[in-house]
Amino acid sequence: MRKQVCIIGGGPAGLLLSQLLHRAGIDSVILERRSRDHVLSRIRAGVLERGTMRMLDEAGVGARMHREGYVHTGTYLSLQNRGFRIDFDRLVGSSVMVYGQTEVTHDLYDARDAMGGDIVDEAADVTPHDIETDRPYVTYVKDGTEHRVDCDWIAGCDGSHGVSRRSIPGHALRTFERVYPFGWLGVLSETPPVSHELIYANHSRGFALCSMRNENLSRYYIQAPADDDAANWSDDAFWDELRRRIPEDAADRLVTGPSIEKSLAPLRSFVAEPMKWGRLFLVGDAAHIVPPTGAKGLNLAVSDVHYLYHALVRHYDGDDEGVATYSETALHRVWKAIRFSWWFTTTMHRFPDQSNFDQRIQETELEVLEESETLQRHLAENYVGLPY
Ligand code: FAD
Ligand code: DHB
Repeated sequence: MRKQVCIIGGGPAGLLLSQLLHRAGIDSVILERRSRDHVLSRIRAGVLERGTMRMLDEAGVGARMHREGYVHTGTYLSLQNRGFRIDFDRLVGSSVMVYGQTEVTHDLYDARDAMGGDIVDEAADVTPHDIETDRPYVTYVKDGTEHRVDCDWIAGCDGSHGVSRRSIPGHALRTFERVYPFGWLGVLSETPPVSHELIYANHSRGFALCSMRNENLSRYYIQAPADDDAANWSDDAFWDELRRRIPEDAADRLVTGPSIEKSLAPLRSFVAEPMKWGRLFLVGDAAHIVPPTGAKGLNLAVSDVHYLYHALVRHYDGDDEGVATYSETALHRVWKAIRFSWWFTTTMHRFPDQSNFDQRIQETELEVLEESETLQRHLAENYVGLPY
């Protein structure tokens, strides 16, 4: 098969890119390793930046998000059971949308299907070839038969464990990493959310987050040791621990119920540079990972797609400036989100080796934030998403 762009990975980045390219008259194929059911059952991010909303609209897939999503004009931060609000609307005249990644992925698959998009699922052994030439191609195995896609460009949208990043020669790739000594134990439950807006809680027992998907679907997280196991936590133990860490009025209101999903996610900051090598681009989690605090992962994948989409449109209009500068342009924004997620993680979590000095500094950081409109504005700007 011959396509202008071969996209490896059918997560949100790959799907959105192919949808946008299609609307611009550029043809692509998506090669996805897993089954569609698997991709659609993953529970991940929940908060969309204003730029992500704009991109979904631009791709023609924003209607259900506007109908069913929840606009949040602020969020709560708490320290030892006492909270204060960051008012995005007042501080930066903006808001975020609470709408799950699972739903975004659903909407994108529906749109791709409606337009007859080419998606190969359960594609095994996907391998990019000749990426340093102007005739790259990708091979994969489907139902025991090997296939080949000849293309102009390869978009590596295959997440942190994909094949794309590994295809860039070691001497050309620089990586930067911080692994945090804790994870997030997440629970999804069919209960009304404890709060209309999210609560990020700093507590001496560890961080907690109250989030939501809709009026009867709540998403909660608590900080847990990185080597813990979700199977060690009964639902009751989870609810008891959450209650201890959040503001008292919220703890009193908390409605609990059986978990319908429970999992532990490790926390890591990671960046690979460059994000382009020859004819291969890295997009989203394939190039960078943020700890989830502040919900930047999915949003960062979408801003990468924005830069790459515009670069490819310009290329097919005869202008190669965008493809030449993609890595530099994307990384400029990536590092700012990496910094914000690192700062928010560091400020809100309990570290095993934290001294009493470190702890007082952390508490003071939050007190200063509560008192300073300037610092709140800075947080709000980053939370709703830096412009692109
Ligand atoms: P992915 O969503 O990872 O998609 C990559 C796709 O490529 C997958 O479908 C995968 O199956 C496919 N693939 C992988 N290897 C190959 C291969 N060799 N060949 C073909 N296909 C391949 N972000 C937040 O903001 N908030 C959260 O709460 C949050 N929770 C998360 C929880 C977990 C467990 C994980 C893993 C991530 C979480 N994230 C969260 C991050 C967010 O989900 C990601 O940033 C986002 O999914 C990135 O999208 P992507 O399309 O770049 O990558
Ligand atoms: C959610 C996840 C986050 O990482 C975050 O900062 C806010 C919300 C969520 O899954 O709802």
